[in-house]
Amino acid sequence: MTAQIIDGKQIAADMRAELKEEVAKLKEQGIVPGLGVILVGEDPASQSYVTAKERACENIGIYSNDNRLPAETSQEELMALVEKMNNDPKINGILVQLPLPKGINEAEVLLAIDPAKDVDGFHPMNVGKMMVGEKAFLPCTPHGIIQLLIRSGVTIEGAEVVIVGRSNIVGKPLANMLIQKKPNANATVTVCHTRTKDLPSHTKRADIVIAAAGRPNTVTADMVKEGVVVIDVGVNRIEDATKKKGYRLVGDVDFEAVKEKASFITPVPGGVGPMTITMLLYNTVESAKRAAGIEVA
Ligand code: GUN
Repeated sequence: MTAQIIDGKQIAADMRAELKEEVAKLKEQGIVPGLGVILVGEDPASQSYVTAKERACENIGIYSNDNRLPAETSQEELMALVEKMNNDPKINGILVQLPLPKGINEAEVLLAIDPAKDVDGFHPMNVGKMMVGEKAFLPCTPHGIIQLLIRSGVTIEGAEVVIVGRSNIVGKPLANMLIQKKPNANATVTVCHTRTKDLPSHTKRADIVIAAAGRPNTVTADMVKEGVVVIDVGVNRIEDATKKKGYRLVGDVDFEAVKEKASFITPVPGGVGPMTITMLLYNTVESAKRAAGIEVA
């Protein structure tokens, strides 16, 4: 079997077109969704993610307030900026790009964000609400992955899902979302990680494998069954002198070999990445609607 490639770029473009229309309608009512962005330090990957997020905002008509701070920024300065954004009515969503430099207490920063503006869904209040199945901002990468599965016609209900990786940003929230007693969830989920004894024994029985380990070749063809659905969340830079930038991006999955066995697979780049940004835009628009007293589903 050769897999159908899940085109995250196209699915994201479709969703962004819908959001753009919605933003235009909100503007007619005097509502302009706004996103406050904070990046601390010079990590190149974070810089490119943040630039992509800001461009995406501009493209669909969301106001973005860009704050790029030096790595030496103190906890107090960062907390003060978050507080300022909490109180700024033009800002409906606050995004603090992670990871933060060493010396900054990440948990304290996330806790300082107004849960009503927490469009990343990282505040413990939103994490808790999500876990008990209440309405909350859903973290963008897991939410984007679920959208990819739904829009590709993959059945999630009852599926054996194996997630490789237990981060707070992907593995843990995704597992929680997929076990909810709700439509497009109700999956049986196993979360594997660096201390898992026999990773292939888990991935081999999975209907859906989600690789979010941050390591190339974490999932190879011998580790999956015929017809598996594979979602690759990895973004790894591999040195490549033939490329203008000096590197190329690969995921956590051995794409070329696994695609010969899978029924569906996401590429890197162009799979999950564009969806993460799209769900951030979605949450920001939703937050602006809530702030304006417009009922959201
Ligand atoms: N770092 C990696 N992914 C994310 C994300 O979705 N949001 C934020 N704020 N930081 C990240």
